[in-house]
Amino acid sequence: MPSCFRFSLSSDVTPPNIRTMASVNTTQFRPAQRVANQKQDVWSIVNEAAAASPVQPIVNMGQGFFGYNPPQFVIDAAKSVFDRVDCNQYAPTKGRPRLKKAIADAYSKFYGKTLDPNKEVTITTGANEGMLSAFMGFIEPGDEVIVFEPFFDQYISNIEMAGGKVVYVPLQAPKNGDTQNSQAADWTLELEHFRAAITPNTRMIVLNTPHNPIGKVFTKDELQAIADICVEKKILILSDEVYDTLYYVPFTRIATLSPEVASITLTVGSAGKNFYATGWRVGWLIGPEHLIKYVSAAHTRICYSSVSPLQEATAIAFEQADQYNFWEESKREMKAKMDKFNTIWGELGLPYSDPQGGYFVLVNMSKIKLPEDYTFPPHVADRPRDFKLSWFLIMELGVAAIPPTEFVSDANAYIAESYLRFAVCKNDDVLETAQERLRGLKKYIQE
Ligand SMILES: Cc1ncc(COP(=O)(O)O)c(C=O)c1O
Repeated sequence: MPSCFRFSLSSDVTPPNIRTMASVNTTQFRPAQRVANQKQDVWSIVNEAAAASPVQPIVNMGQGFFGYNPPQFVIDAAKSVFDRVDCNQYAPTKGRPRLKKAIADAYSKFYGKTLDPNKEVTITTGANEGMLSAFMGFIEPGDEVIVFEPFFDQYISNIEMAGGKVVYVPLQAPKNGDTQNSQAADWTLELEHFRAAITPNTRMIVLNTPHNPIGKVFTKDELQAIADICVEKKILILSDEVYDTLYYVPFTRIATLSPEVASITLTVGSAGKNFYATGWRVGWLIGPEHLIKYVSAAHTRICYSSVSPLQEATAIAFEQADQYNFWEESKREMKAKMDKFNTIWGELGLPYSDPQGGYFVLVNMSKIKLPEDYTFPPHVADRPRDFKLSWFLIMELGVAAIPPTEFVSDANAYIAESYLRFAVCKNDDVLETAQERLRGLKKYIQE
């Protein structure tokens, strides 16, 4: 390094910014409660383990990002928009007109009516910020929001940031999941548990279908039963349908059950999931005008508007998807990955819950006997068994999977602690390497 770039903290030429930092007492900057007490999140634990593993490079089947690019027509769409002056400037707060229209056009056929792009669609910064906007738009401090477990972890902090109280209702795990393969459909909601959780303060429920991490696609009857209760009790439905193009059994959108249900439902979508571009951060909500306008109002105050050029690219992607038979292809491709990867569990004799949609599979690891003298770091040792399993797989086999108790409340950890979640949205050679490495589990399996 040339000497002009070197400096020493002990010298009297300490740069002014360093001098200022040394005199600051950082404890005086008390963080807000909403971030201060968060447990170390699962992603950082898994990433830290992955970095420390002696088996490198890690096969990462943990986080749900794609291991490959969007299709060429989507990439071409993205490349084409950056030359346009208007695309590089602020989008309208509710979204670029072309994207709202493309979404209204694509979804009207499912809703059995012509969606109004200006009143019934609003664009957000990914589904995540869309859901935050929905909570900010409708939840007052003290309002209760019912969440079914397991849940996508982001719901919880988003509800709490809006001042809401999360009320958990567990889905029941498959009865013989420890010993036999099950169907994602075998994870069921006991309606009486749902009814019992409703209080005069219940304002909203969050539904997720196809489901992360279970892969369950709620049946029309299940959705009707949930919707009937929400209509009766005047509870809003936030339906997270980000995996709405990846279903392998018939898929019903709860908003399409009846005009009454539609009038209380906000449906969430994600370009990241639809077009293999989770980094684009383009999402949307569809719903009746009397709900959408408040989501847009909150979104305007949270981030004003969302990434403009990639909204335009998403619009083009929607317009061209049918011409490339993309929706059929993406379903077929993902299902093939799922089936290909899951052959390993039959070989090992480990039961899994066969997904009906999405790209996650839950595998039951009850038969794995972890060595008794194995040492786990304290922040893993004091978490449920699935965290230890995840750590063990990363360290010993070099395969990363997610412990799903991160997606349940502490009280209901029992429903998920025997499982690990694998994401199959990876290239086939990665799936094959994972299978090869997972064969190393054989010696730890006890029948
Ligand atoms: C169920 C579910 N909802 C929402 C999201 C977030 O979607 P986005 O990336 O569009 O914010 C995810 C991402 O993993 C998810 O699994």
